Amino acid sequence: MTEAIPSFLVKTLRAARSAAVLTGAGVSAESGLPTFRDAMTGLWAQRRPEDLATAEAFRRDPRLVWEWYAWRRALAAQAVPNPAHFALAEMARRVPRLTLITQNVDGLHQRAGSWDVIELHGSLSRVKCFREDVVVEGWGETGDVPPRCPRCGGPLRPDVVWFGESLPPQALEQATEAAEHCDVFLSVGTLGLVEPAASLLGLAARRGATTALFNLESTGQSSLADFSITGPAGRTLPALLRAAWPEDGSARG
Ligand code: OAD
Repeated sequence: MTEAIPSFLVKTLRAARSAAVLTGAGVSAESGLPTFRDAMTGLWAQRRPEDLATAEAFRRDPRLVWEWYAWRRALAAQAVPNPAHFALAEMARRVPRLTLITQNVDGLHQRAGSWDVIELHGSLSRVKCFREDVVVEGWGETGDVPPRCPRCGGPLRPDVVWFGESLPPQALEQATEAAEHCDVFLSVGTLGLVEPAASLLGLAARRGATTALFNLESTGQSSLADFSITGPAGRTLPALLRAAWPEDGSARG
């Protein structure tokens, strides 16, 4: 099935010197990873994100929070990138300067071949010491849950950004810079509820970028964007790529 991709967007992307793409959980949905607001199912039903993704929650019940992230880490490790991830990696080979900014912590963009990914919300693949706030490479198996920091004995936590915490300053600075200076800004599979990531689209629009949303549904941000492309990103992004570079057989994602 051919997706309807607006021709103005196609032409603008093809001619763009720089593009910025912000992704959220929706880009990994077709890899079988629940979106953030759907993740509270099964074992984790009845829990609100605020019960699990905060420093207060970790202080209150470190085992519970560690186990939730261990479950998510295992899901991410079993998952494979889908055509949306691959299409973005391909796009970066065609646009002179493409900045990929993700709110996801699953590492699937990198596994699809994207490089220099700005991880605004950290990564499930790293842990840090809760006490010292420094990334720790590994830990001894002492049976503790969560495991202990090999340096100070404090509990280890995932190196992800929790509610109420600041984003890594360098990642935010690079993302803002990319949004301010891009010709095209694509927002893919994100509800756009969580700041400061949510503001990047408006920032790009104010600076004159052509903006497009790729989502299953219309979101609170749809009216901010020039275009809203509805459908699974695993179909719509490869369709955009094919439309922009039809002569290139390898763009058939
Ligand atoms: P959400 O779960 O809030 O939103 C996911 C969006 O993806 C929804 O709008 C879905 O309609 C859309 N979606 C689902 N499947 C899709 C598909 N196949 N193709 C396209 N779109 C699809 O997730 P995020 O917006 O990523 O932060 O959430 C942002 C942040 O909120 C997360 O990074 C997390 C959370 O708080 C922290 O933990 C700091």
